[in-house]
Amino acid sequence: MIDTSTNHAASYRPIGLSVRNGRLAWGETVLLKDFSFDVKPGSWTCLLGESGVGKSTLLRTIAGLIEPTGPTEILDHEGCALRDRVAYMAQQDLLLPWLSAIDNVMLGARLRGEAVDGDHARDILARTGVAERANARPAEMSGGERQRVALARTLMEECPIVLMDEPFSALDAITRTRLQDLAVNLLAHRTVLMVTHDPFEALRLADDVIILRGPVLDHVGSPNMPIVPPGTVPRDPTDPTLRDAHQAIMHALADPTVTEKTV
Ligand SMILES: Nc1ncnc2c1ncn2[C@@H]1O[C@H](COP(=O)(O)OP(=O)(O)O)[C@@H](O)[C@H]1O
Ligand SMILES: [Mg+2]
Repeated sequence: MIDTSTNHAASYRPIGLSVRNGRLAWGETVLLKDFSFDVKPGSWTCLLGESGVGKSTLLRTIAGLIEPTGPTEILDHEGCALRDRVAYMAQQDLLLPWLSAIDNVMLGARLRGEAVDGDHARDILARTGVAERANARPAEMSGGERQRVALARTLMEECPIVLMDEPFSALDAITRTRLQDLAVNLLAHRTVLMVTHDPFEALRLADDVIILRGPVLDHVGSPNMPIVPPGTVPRDPTDPTLRDAHQAIMHALADPTVTEKTV
């Protein structure tokens, strides 16, 4: 049973995200350079791009797990450092296999040496629909249950900015749709930057779509290319009114004019 009655919307002052003079590189190999983009406070932005372009590297850099390269600036919409206001959900769920679901949800606070509110953790597990799996270990759970626990752990961090790396890609279509709807509800009023390789997922969830193409970045939805999927999320991606937005995304993804990966 999923409790969708509360989403703690009032506890967040939405914070935007701004990347300026962006440069992503591993050693001599430059993945992306000279890019800037904004994620509006309280919006949901999807990052798309072909495999290997640097989506996960970018997300991990924003999360503070990788040192920014060169001139890259990662700030909030008021020009302040993001510090500890960012929660990150990795491409693999990264649940610790020897911990139960509830202990995985409380892991962040425990690692920081903070007092852990077990009732709050149980409440979040209930909101993600896996209260009855609190004592199960990851190996005993289905893929959908593990992703719900990973989502619960992300929510437990209570951060206004949430970064998610292909959080639903390993799920079957029905479970994916359910979890997308759940995430839209639970993350309402937070600022979400989500990597996906699926244009339909972006059409379903995104206020704004950013296409990564090495080594430049094109912002679909910017004033230069004003393509914002119409309607409110979660949308039906097969809705005919989304056809133009879908074509624009596919065109940007397939654009062969920018393929250079190194400088
Ligand atoms: N830790 C690392 N060290 C060196 N190269 C890496 C590392 N992680 C990723 N890469 C390389 O960076 C490129 C982009 O990877 P990634 O950000 O995972 O792409 P995406 O998420 O878009 O598929 C790939 O060529 C990958 O091999
Ligand atoms: Mg990736």
